[in-house]
Amino acid sequence: MARVLVTRRLPDGGTDPLTAAGHEIVTTDDDAPLTHEQLCTAVAEVDAVVCLLTDRIDDAVITAGVPHLKVVANVAVGYDNVDVSAAAAAGVAVCNTPGVLDETTADLAFLLILTASRLSSTAEHDLRTGAWHGWGINQYLGRDVHGATLGVVGYGRIGAAVARRAEGFGMHVLHHTRNDTGAPGWVADLDALLAESDVVSLHVPLKDETRHLIDARRLQLMKPTAVLVNTARGPVVDEEALAIALEGGEIFAAGIDVYEREPEVHPRLLTAPRTVLLPHIGSASQQTRTRMAQLACEGAVAVLNGERPPNLVTP
Ligand code: DGY
Repeated sequence: MARVLVTRRLPDGGTDPLTAAGHEIVTTDDDAPLTHEQLCTAVAEVDAVVCLLTDRIDDAVITAGVPHLKVVANVAVGYDNVDVSAAAAAGVAVCNTPGVLDETTADLAFLLILTASRLSSTAEHDLRTGAWHGWGINQYLGRDVHGATLGVVGYGRIGAAVARRAEGFGMHVLHHTRNDTGAPGWVADLDALLAESDVVSLHVPLKDETRHLIDARRLQLMKPTAVLVNTARGPVVDEEALAIALEGGEIFAAGIDVYEREPEVHPRLLTAPRTVLLPHIGSASQQTRTRMAQLACEGAVAVLNGERPPNLVTP
């Protein structure tokens, strides 16, 4: 039997793989995130950690876990909160949750495409606050989604799932990745894709090379009628540059689910026009969050059994 630190409360059934395997779960009574110091202390007494993207698992945390710690299982597909190199150097495996959240996240990306393009958040806000005084032919004039060109940036499972939805909505779909996917619609040059797209949806992981991938220069390449959607990671977009682009009408609208310094949102983004802002809920359905928690726990169980889990990210 191993001791497994579960850093936050998981959805019901999420830790079933740990209990089924007979492991002891170490957790806190409340759902408050552990401080970095608390994480370092807690990790020193366990064999495995099941953590969330709000936990910063850096070199210090990994080092505090040596020599007992065998695995860090992150309940997210993105693992930029985990220092994978430090883990690999310490012989600690890192797992994530690929595959189980693709469709749910793609649904939310599509929701943002529709909401941002059709200005429905603004329209609903006006209705609820009594600012709507009756139908008008020039009110809430959004952009058509059908017939528009969607540029998908990053074409992994989630990007491809968004592309499938777009086909059903009658959009013309392009995608950009560094290497040719061989799929129709591949565009080698990101700048060219940005210039051609009516809607741009971001689906790249956060890495050094994708930090501020969408910056002031690239926002200027987009059409003044274009919509930008980000359900990937906040730092992929320069938030201040985005706010400036929205304020100046350089692009038409934005739909954003992730932020550079969560839970802070850039104050200019909060007041920017035609901007739909959601609190990082891309994968937030009951079924998907439960499955994510289970998959992370299954990865931890596999490593504790001396097996190689399919969701291993360490080399
Ligand atoms: C992830 O899995 O990386 C999402 O951001 C959380 O669902």
